[in-house]
Amino acid sequence: MKSNFDKYRKQIDDRLFGFLKEQTERSRYSKSGDKYPFSLYDPLNYIMNGGGKRIRPLLVLLSCEAFGGDTQNAIDAAVSVEILHNFTLVHDDIMDNAGTRRGKETIHKKWDVNAAILVGDELIGLSYRSLLRSKTDNITGVVRAFTDGVIEVCEGQAMDKEFETSTDVTLDDYLIMIRKKTAELLRTSSVMGAIIGNADEHGIKSISSYSENIGLAFQIQDDLLDVIADEGEFGKKIGGDIIERKKTFLYLKALELLNGNAKDEFLYMYNTDSAESDKIKKIISIYNDICVINSARKEIEKYTILANRSIDCINSVSAKNNLEQFSNMLLNRNY
Ligand code: IPE
Ligand code: IPE
Ligand code: MG
Ligand code: MG
Ligand code: MG
Repeated sequence: MKSNFDKYRKQIDDRLFGFLKEQTERSRYSKSGDKYPFSLYDPLNYIMNGGGKRIRPLLVLLSCEAFGGDTQNAIDAAVSVEILHNFTLVHDDIMDNAGTRRGKETIHKKWDVNAAILVGDELIGLSYRSLLRSKTDNITGVVRAFTDGVIEVCEGQAMDKEFETSTDVTLDDYLIMIRKKTAELLRTSSVMGAIIGNADEHGIKSISSYSENIGLAFQIQDDLLDVIADEGEFGKKIGGDIIERKKTFLYLKALELLNGNAKDEFLYMYNTDSAESDKIKKIISIYNDICVINSARKEIEKYTILANRSIDCINSVSAKNNLEQFSNMLLNRNY
């Protein structure tokens, strides 16, 4: 994803990889330095070196700058949210039985589930270690926002798993679930950046609404990409949500549009196991027939417009442009 955010991405990655190197070195316990808990740090460095769009740390930096703050003060908070995000991915892949992430084998497949659980736990600890280095007069506010984000993600993930075995999930339930599992961490990122940038209450409210709407659009688009993306580019298995019976935007919209027998058959097919590639093909063909792909696109645009409207009150023209470019970049992504 090339863009003029690359200079920020470089700042993030330099700090992130410097921090991780320091942590891995710190774990060495023999005098010659050749012993360290490799069963933890090898898979940890594997996921952290596996790429990623760096959306959340970018939001921290852009939100800090939007209020005239210095991104150098927010860089450790940016790194911390990327580390936390990677924890959510490692555990999410166990929960979702996912075999690939960012085009590579997932940790619980390449190593095992215990390794993946521990890597996730360690990443939470490391994320706080980085967060506490943030340069701000309001570290309590920053840590509070971050902690709220951690709790929201866990609650959202619980809802996501509960919904797999339920057939009466509504679009309203879905919106609550994706707000928690995805949008809250994007919101947290912006709020932390804004606090570090010394934003006032009103500023924090606007940027918070911006990133929450971006987050909703982001998850609906992730649901859409699960069906329409190119597998190589997406880096995750196409139709993974269908196999896990995820109650995605597409599924819930399809239920809203279908009637009678067609609806009963769809409900049954989606919520019953059958040959994987056959099931994926059939469900995707129904999605195409009833145009839920288009409905999803419209919904993503709706939330992106809402996001861009939330920042009308930001004074700096360049900051506003950056945030608008950021939401448009997400809107046009293929992975
Ligand atoms: C994946 O997040 C999980 C979701 C919330 C959809 P990203 O799409 O930001 O993952 P990376 O970090 O770029 O791989
Ligand atoms: C993303 O949900 C939410 C979190 C990772 C917390 P998904 O399960 O849809 O994310 P992907 O598609 O595996 O990246
Ligand atoms: Mg999931
Ligand atoms: Mg998943
Ligand atoms: Mg997904």
